[in-house]
Amino acid sequence: MNPTLLDKVLSKVDFPVDANTIVGASGADDAGIYKISEHQALVQTLDFFTPIVDDPYIFGQIAAANSLSDVYAMGGKPLSALNIVGFPDDKLDENVLTQILQGGADKIKEAEAVILGGHTIQDNELKYGLSVTGIVHPEKIRINNNLRVGDWLILTKPIGTGILTTALKNDKITETELQPVIDSMLYLNKTTSEAMENLNVSACTDVTGFGLLGHLWEMMQDLNVDVRIDVDKIVTFDNVREFASESMFIPGGTLANINYLERHIVLGDFPLWHLNYLCDPQTSGGLLIAISEKDVEKYFERIKSYPLTVSIIGEVMEGKDKIILK
Ligand code: CO
Ligand code: CO
Repeated sequence: MNPTLLDKVLSKVDFPVDANTIVGASGADDAGIYKISEHQALVQTLDFFTPIVDDPYIFGQIAAANSLSDVYAMGGKPLSALNIVGFPDDKLDENVLTQILQGGADKIKEAEAVILGGHTIQDNELKYGLSVTGIVHPEKIRINNNLRVGDWLILTKPIGTGILTTALKNDKITETELQPVIDSMLYLNKTTSEAMENLNVSACTDVTGFGLLGHLWEMMQDLNVDVRIDVDKIVTFDNVREFASESMFIPGGTLANINYLERHIVLGDFPLWHLNYLCDPQTSGGLLIAISEKDVEKYFERIKSYPLTVSIIGEVMEGKDKIILK
């Protein structure tokens, strides 16, 4: 939902916490962490949404890859998952749901985790997602709001899934043209997460609904830093920059993301439409990693066989809550 509204609502709710709550509902992170012993903590997250592709099996897989992503972003290993389903059983054939659930199940299996059950309700609109539980060593947790001056920022997938799935809905591109986007959404953030192990990474998040800059903002807010973003280094899927200047390709959430962030962004010479892809809501987006310069080479060495484009998109400097585009 709209990040401004969500902030407002959450700030008014009194969530219970205790001494073992490492990352709770009041912070900027989108998964929670709960310590169960000196050596183990649970990572818990959940995500669900309406279909973004026509093929139910692919939709199920994407939803699962997306739901697993927060666990990987926090440096965890997924253990188990539960399905969440809203299904219009008066409108859709039961076979559609079978395929969605099989897609989710196969992706969870690929992540070497299991599905323990789930819950379904009758709904006017199809919705699917999962709640995922993972495990992490309490000293190896990657939180998001922790950028450090001097860090470099690495982005592990191209952006533009919101713009291109909107283009598909409006019949401006074909399902075949969307294939590279689908491949990217299906790809687990596992390799790029595991490659961070024992490197000097100060913060990590996965890029989803708030877009690249929205999630970057979560990493930097209240830390007295600026981030300089090298716009040319940001890899987008084909057509994204072309479509970004036309309102018909811009999904509903983008404007809310832009409004939420605008006062922190220094555009320089960039026309406003650049924000349409920089704040484009992503489904199963990549990781945004803040790493010390000396470990950048080691990181890239470890992900040599990873098939998607990974790029260094910016750096963290002393400052005052500004995202500077250059
Ligand atoms: Co999430
Ligand atoms: Co996330």
